[in-house]
Amino acid sequence: YQGSITIPVVINILEDANHPVTQAHINSQIDILNEDYNDLNPNAGGVPNEFNNDIANVDITFVLETVNRKASSKSSWGTNDAMKHSNQGGIDATDPAHKLNFWICEIGGGILGYAQFPGGELATDGVVIGSDFFGENARGGEYGHGRTATHEVGHWLNLRHIWGDGRCKQDDFVTDTPSSDQPNYGCPSYPTVHCRSNDMTMNYMDYVNDNCMYMFTNGQNDRMRTIFATGGPRESFVN
Ligand code: ARG
Ligand code: ZN
Ligand code: CA
Repeated sequence: YQGSITIPVVINILEDANHPVTQAHINSQIDILNEDYNDLNPNAGGVPNEFNNDIANVDITFVLETVNRKASSKSSWGTNDAMKHSNQGGIDATDPAHKLNFWICEIGGGILGYAQFPGGELATDGVVIGSDFFGENARGGEYGHGRTATHEVGHWLNLRHIWGDGRCKQDDFVTDTPSSDQPNYGCPSYPTVHCRSNDMTMNYMDYVNDNCMYMFTNGQNDRMRTIFATGGPRESFVN
């Protein structure tokens, strides 16, 4: 699919008084998504020369449509999708064939967020983000600057982790992301070498700090766009 894509966004918040999600968190998160998916990340100037031609403007615009709030004192929702079902204390998805649903809640277990890949069940389609990791100035320290959502939306758009979740030969199915056999953490210095080449540690699909990830590649852009093509699993978003 070529051309600009607009994605309406529904934010479902399971509100916990100790982990408030404010309108400022919400607005800044939408802004961050729009920066990152339009090659406007303020840190993008830090991309090393060897990767400069790989930088993609994905050209996806996220538009906040609705915010649903429901009080909840549950402190550890886990990753079994209970937050996506009203009959399990959560909030049901709104029109998931045409809108990106976020659920913001206390996930627990040190998990920042998780996403459903394209092609899954509609009722659970979307992205879950821990309440301390949503938006700018969230409580998550180095993970409090909104990039968990950028990373999880990458999964929702069919991207794998940049190191392929395995050894050097395990691919992420993207040709312009260098091979690696492990995630990077913190804010790695350049060059960081794994599998005999320099890792693209600043890619959103690595595991570095929020402020140290600032690019998608053209290959990742192609992979994301394929799902919106005719017959693709997210075709309904562009028709
Ligand atoms: N660990 C999570 C995942 O695999 C998210 C990592 C996000 N990284 C970040 N710097 N916010 O989906
Ligand atoms: Zn991930
Ligand atoms: Ca690759």
